[in-house]
Amino acid sequence: MVIESFDVAIIGGGPGGYVAAIRASQLGLKVACIEKRETLGGTCLNVGCIPSKALLESSELFLQASKHFENHGIIVSKPQIDVPAMIARKDKIVKGLGDGISSLFKKNKITRIVGLGNVIATNRVEVTDKTGAKSEIEAKFIIIATGSEPASLPCLPMDGEFVVSSAEALCFKSVPKDLVVVGAGYIGLEMGSVWTRLGSNVQVLEFLPKALPLSDSESASLLQRSLEKQGLNFNFDTKVTGGKRKGNQIVIDCEKSGQKLQFKADKALVCVGRKPNSLGLGIEALGIEVDPKTGQIKVDQYLRTAVPNIFAIGDLVAGPMLAHKAEEEGVAAAENILGGKTTVNHDTIPSVIYTWPELSSVGKTEEQLKEANIAYKIGKFPFIANSRARTMGETEGMVKILAHEKTDRILGVHIVGPRASDMIAEAVAWVEMQASAEDIAKTCHAHPTLSEAFKEAAMAVDKKAIHI
Ligand code: FAD
Ligand code: NAI
Repeated sequence: MVIESFDVAIIGGGPGGYVAAIRASQLGLKVACIEKRETLGGTCLNVGCIPSKALLESSELFLQASKHFENHGIIVSKPQIDVPAMIARKDKIVKGLGDGISSLFKKNKITRIVGLGNVIATNRVEVTDKTGAKSEIEAKFIIIATGSEPASLPCLPMDGEFVVSSAEALCFKSVPKDLVVVGAGYIGLEMGSVWTRLGSNVQVLEFLPKALPLSDSESASLLQRSLEKQGLNFNFDTKVTGGKRKGNQIVIDCEKSGQKLQFKADKALVCVGRKPNSLGLGIEALGIEVDPKTGQIKVDQYLRTAVPNIFAIGDLVAGPMLAHKAEEEGVAAAENILGGKTTVNHDTIPSVIYTWPELSSVGKTEEQLKEANIAYKIGKFPFIANSRARTMGETEGMVKILAHEKTDRILGVHIVGPRASDMIAEAVAWVEMQASAEDIAKTCHAHPTLSEAFKEAAMAVDKKAIHI
């Protein structure tokens, strides 16, 4: 019954899986990639990173045209929003990039199999297609890259219409008048921003006392204050206890400090984290360990599971659930199949929240340094004192650098500000090279650029910033 033999079978065609497939093919291996979706690119391309950034971009332009153009002396009549056109643009971008990955597969002679993959033996994958027909392939190595899916709240089950996940919130047909967002994490702030900018009254319900609980606290509260000024409403220490349909609305029941509260909305977006897709793959029977608490597959530093020829990568294993982390692990797993010793350093993986201002980070937060009893110095530089930010009219936020008290080594960088997503690349390189604050302070940065704020923050570590 075995249809074909491969060197590597990869289950999942997201940023982890498709990148692993391309790298393995570059290394001369015969590769099959099994993906249950018709399209490649996984969560990131189909219902994650790319569609959300397309809508963030469109809604940002709408806000600029509505509120900020006149500051530049540009007079336009009141802009209107055509939601279906905005969604169609997003879909076109997603399709174009998906076609691009398909071409890369063809170029690299990767066999693409559409269907649900199941590991039935250490060198066999069963594939079930959408008609239910089953086939098997044989592979010397298997890389599992099945990613993650939205975590749900038992008290507020998703119905795809009134209570939705991020996938549906990327496709609303019109602007919901009232939108409840459960969870003040990445998705809550990004999708909350999109729909606030387009005119929704957004209420964010977060069960902890602050937004972005794992980010550097000072930076997260700076961002939170900016978002509040833009109209996002945050309700902290708020526990959702249930919800029921009332006509064309959903009524969410909550508790806050012992008080019962209700929020009525046209839509409720539940974004309380994601859980790894590790169930139903048949791997536990083979001796592969799955952490019962997190659902993550256990791997060593080379991404190898307890079964030596099976690897796991991306959202499925420990570390931040981010596309670029999955991609790095895709490359590493492919190289390690051939005896490589490639590892991925989780301490230098940047994170970005693509709101406006953006929040980007790499390395440790102040809270983590305190907890680990590491003595540190801080350098901060606000964008209000940066000439380029002034020309852009984007003066909110700051660069914050945490350096070791004695060695001056950069331990963490947190940027709240315009284009923080692009600025963090420089910080990642310095952290990766184990540089000191002085190394940055002595490096010439072009004028006038936002990156001068980064240099000045490094100078501020030793109290020698010039422009503040
Ligand atoms: P996935 O991308 O989830 O891919 C796994 C693939 O496996 C899926 O296509 C799935 O269909 C397939 N699959 C699952 N089970 C099987 C099976 N049994 N057989 C066959 N196929 C299977 N990250 C960022 O870095 N930047 C961002 O801006 C960003 N924005 C995001 C926005 C949203 C709204 C969401 C939800 C996520 C975002 N992420 C972002 C996170 C990012 O999408 C994930 O970290 C990334 O997609 C993980 O890659 P992966 O390859 O591990 O898994
Ligand atoms: P998240 O982990 O970022 O945030 C979830 C939030 O929900 C947390 O603040 C948490 O305290 C809160 N929460 C948990 N249970 C709750 C409850 N019962 N009631 C109220 N609040 C509750 O998860 P999110 O936003 O769903 O995103 C999932 C992951 O996807 C992110 O962690 C990130 O890895 C990835 N992502 C990355 C993006 C980026 O890189 N820009 C954008 C979007 C998602």
